[in-house]
Amino acid sequence: MADLSTIIGSLRLKNPTLLASGIMDEDAGSMQRMIDCGASAIVTKSIGMQPREGYANPTVLELEYGLLNAMGLPNPGIDQFAQEMKKLQKSKTPIIGSIYAADAEEFVALASKMEQYGAAAVELNVSCPHAKRYGLEVGCDATLLQTIVSSVKQQVKIPVFVKLSPSVVNIVEIAQAAEKGNADAIVAINTVKGMKIDLETAHPILANRTGGYSGKAIKPIGVRCVYDIAQNVNIPVIGVGGITTGEDAIEYFMAGASAVQIGSAVYYRGPDVFRHVCKEINVWMDTHGYKKICELVGVAYQ
Ligand code: SIN
Repeated sequence: MADLSTIIGSLRLKNPTLLASGIMDEDAGSMQRMIDCGASAIVTKSIGMQPREGYANPTVLELEYGLLNAMGLPNPGIDQFAQEMKKLQKSKTPIIGSIYAADAEEFVALASKMEQYGAAAVELNVSCPHAKRYGLEVGCDATLLQTIVSSVKQQVKIPVFVKLSPSVVNIVEIAQAAEKGNADAIVAINTVKGMKIDLETAHPILANRTGGYSGKAIKPIGVRCVYDIAQNVNIPVIGVGGITTGEDAIEYFMAGASAVQIGSAVYYRGPDVFRHVCKEINVWMDTHGYKKICELVGVAYQ
């Protein structure tokens, strides 16, 4: 049996599969279920300063090759979220607090609260493809991003991860800005901006019109981003985007990821996806003579 443990900054994970932000992670009960199904860490729903209802329905569409969603960052707000974090305080599985904001001051306030609540790390969501003021508006500005990351780093002791969007001109430059701000890891990628039009009504189906596309179809985009980023930064990269099987995860490791996050595949394969993917990684590594995840990281560069 191969050793599936992996290290991201100061976080030691028992296996390389984390729950991605945005699915089964809005309350302690659903997060606990994902822990019980084998996720090595949980990234929470993205939380902001104030409660937010999110967009009207329809917010999620199942398309031929993936999911298109525009939830609109619905969340109870950081103060209310304390209750969910409290219920998981004794958990041995790291809980990573995903936060979104429009400026450094808000990011610092949110990260400090997540730290107080016992989060093992924070993930700065600067990549939501459709929320006005938040997300991509922050994550495509390298200078602003560096300021935000360094402000958060000066305030909290827990590791700071930064989740990037593929919908930027140069994702390497954005990743390097996060690294210059002292980020502990890069998470790549968030969903890809997309749209679905109903031919009969001649209207976009999502209430928000545009959304973020996830699932198998975006895996080549994620793998390319990880491949480009990992060769140009000296901090770990966590791959996300279309990981459904162990072989998908192996591809991300070869591209340079030290761990992967799984989101849409929880919908496609059920919550046991973490166990299945770990088993498949193990079988592949045994068959190909690899003993540790780190032996696979970045082998595609040669
Ligand atoms: C949403 O809440 O609409 C998605 C959040 C994200 O893509 O970061």
